[in-house]
Amino acid sequence: MARILHGLAAIGARVVSFATVASKLHMDRLKHWESIYTTKGERDLSWFEEVPAVSLELIEAAGLSAVTCVVDVGGGESRLVDELLARGLDCLAVLDVSHEALVRTRARLGDAAQTVTWIEADVTGAWSLKPMDVWHDRAVFHFLVDADDRRRYVSHLRETLKLHGSAVIATFAADGPERCSGLPVVRYSPALLADELGDGFTLIESRPHLHTTPGGTIQSFQYSRFQRAS
Ligand SMILES: C[S@@+](CC[C@H](N)C(=O)[O-])C[C@H]1O[C@@H](n2cnc3c(N)ncnc32)[C@H](O)[C@@H]1O
Repeated sequence: MARILHGLAAIGARVVSFATVASKLHMDRLKHWESIYTTKGERDLSWFEEVPAVSLELIEAAGLSAVTCVVDVGGGESRLVDELLARGLDCLAVLDVSHEALVRTRARLGDAAQTVTWIEADVTGAWSLKPMDVWHDRAVFHFLVDADDRRRYVSHLRETLKLHGSAVIATFAADGPERCSGLPVVRYSPALLADELGDGFTLIESRPHLHTTPGGTIQSFQYSRFQRAS
């Protein structure tokens, strides 16, 4: 089940309801993430970042301007959208399976939230968006432990990202944690991630990154930037 909560002319998105039956897996995910966001504060979340510095560096390396269209997949409460708005972008979308996460992020942004298209959806489910220049995902793809889900994710990536557009995908690295938020994850090297995306995506650069959680734990991430080649 997916809902587009807001969309402005700037992004060209229609306000659309996708009338689909959510699978049990999608409902379980929704319940899990909804319970996280309704019971924990922003700084109780292990993935919290005051400033998403590495994401911004890689998005800027992809070539960022005020007319770049960016979608943050599984954006949750990330402050990436704040940073992109502050750089003058007005073609932005945030997708997340959690209604509460999007409500909290919109509340934080206040009036500026009107500039963003908010998509409440499972990334592997039924949703669509106009073609975007940049697809950003920090710590979402690694939760897709089922190969069919990963195929559906890549299919949405292909449908949404413009030819020659950039995908910045951050996951736990090969030496990173085996679980996050109580859920199992798949850990990736940049090469393994490139294999998952397939031939149509060229790996441009990757960076290891050690994230320090608000509780002081160190987590090993990899960030990779791909270009859609075909
Ligand atoms: C670890 S958090 C990362 C949040 C954000 N990207 C950040 O860096 O702060 C994972 C986020 O992905 C969302 N999520 C998990 N599985 C999802 C799915 N299948 N489809 C859409 N969102 C999902 C969760 O609700 C949560 O907000």
